[in-house]
Amino acid sequence: MESSEKKYKVLFVCLGNICRSPAAQAVFEHYVREAGLQDRIQADSAGTYGGHAGSLPDRRMRTAALYRGFAVTHTARRVRAVDFLDFDLVIAMDDQNYEDLMHLAPSVEDSHKIKRMADYLTTHRISYIPDPYYMGAEGFSHVLDLLEEACANLLDSLK
Ligand code: 4NP
Repeated sequence: MESSEKKYKVLFVCLGNICRSPAAQAVFEHYVREAGLQDRIQADSAGTYGGHAGSLPDRRMRTAALYRGFAVTHTARRVRAVDFLDFDLVIAMDDQNYEDLMHLAPSVEDSHKIKRMADYLTTHRISYIPDPYYMGAEGFSHVLDLLEEACANLLDSLK
């Protein structure tokens, strides 16, 4: 039975919403389901650039993620100021995403919802999730390594 409690909502944000953030959403949702918390925690993703809105995730990311058991099926959309009303946590993949979100946040209080994905990394020494769009297969695999660790730690932080 569905809980009547309001769900905690997490929004993952990158540039195009076709590589990093939909993969982060899929990995995070997978862990949320494994933990049996799908009635308590909800995720979505969006991009600061709207040029890919309506598209499926990049085929290279879908393939790399599926190889690890994550189905990345989100339809791309652009992030909106109104998302800050809806979401409890807004997670930027890199510093440019972070700056763009800071400018979009309607209030100082809303800007406090913005975090960096790399802040949830504990073993990887990197301060952002690199854009794999112009990289080869190893770039997508590296991003997934980072996202798996960050999503696991993010979920732990919410429990
Ligand atoms: P994402 O990757 O921000 O991880 O979705 C990109 C996707 C598209 C573009 C850049 C990055 N682009 O320039 O179209």
